Amino acid sequence: MKLFYSTRKLVSWRQSESGSVGFVPTMGALHDGHLALMRESMQNNDFTIVSIFVNPKQFNRQEDFDNYPNTLKTDLKKLQEIGVSAVFVPTMEEVYPTEDTYKTAKPGAFAIGFEGDFRPGHFEGVVNVVDRLFYWTNPNQVYFGQKDLQQCLVISDLIKEKYKDIRFNWIPTERESDGLAMSSRNKRLSENGKHIGQQIYANLFKCAEQEGVKAALDNCRNSIVSSGIDVEYLDIIHWNDMPVEPKTGRAIVFAGYLEGVRLIDNIIL
Ligand code: PAF
Repeated sequence: MKLFYSTRKLVSWRQSESGSVGFVPTMGALHDGHLALMRESMQNNDFTIVSIFVNPKQFNRQEDFDNYPNTLKTDLKKLQEIGVSAVFVPTMEEVYPTEDTYKTAKPGAFAIGFEGDFRPGHFEGVVNVVDRLFYWTNPNQVYFGQKDLQQCLVISDLIKEKYKDIRFNWIPTERESDGLAMSSRNKRLSENGKHIGQQIYANLFKCAEQEGVKAALDNCRNSIVSSGIDVEYLDIIHWNDMPVEPKTGRAIVFAGYLEGVRLIDNIIL
């Protein structure tokens, strides 16, 4: 497994390889959800590049950035075991040099609402870094997790606008056996918190079965709130006309706080 800290070295290795490249961007603290993306990439490409960079520009709260888990040593061990071709761990100065001349793209309309409302600047930060990472890794295919569904829509929009040759893949959410969506942030939940957290997916699932019934969303919200979770939003998102499957899709999207930890989840209708 190649390990690159420098953009220049990564780019020169990338240029020397002629096979297909799958790319999985991450912020580390790797769990089985990330590994599922890598496995999918490894099955479908000659090379798989993983990046690990905790991007300060996408955190709208300093505290969240400061508390974001950093498990680089274990992450690298997991990546070595699974057998990815290369890991890119750039420094802050590599990604955002003091004299920054990179003309980064701006997020499209999918950045409005939901995460865009509750985390101002979040998608601008995501697109800023993903745009640079796509440019350096020059992948044929990229892999994102469905848990961050709105991010998937924002990125497939970026691809449509600026990276037409990249194939976007979104991979279903990996869950704990009780249904809690895997997330790096789960590491900050107590055992009891993890237990309560299962209420999120259990209720989204129930709500999805009563599709189209407005009261079902209200019941779902009440039930999640009464389990001790503060709901930020619980609503339906639409992605008609997007080049992702299912093409005329809708999903119930959720965000909320449990034990001070922000959790998101969704279920496709
Ligand atoms: O989903 C994430 O972990 C991040 O938003 C990403 C795509 C790695 C960009 O920093």
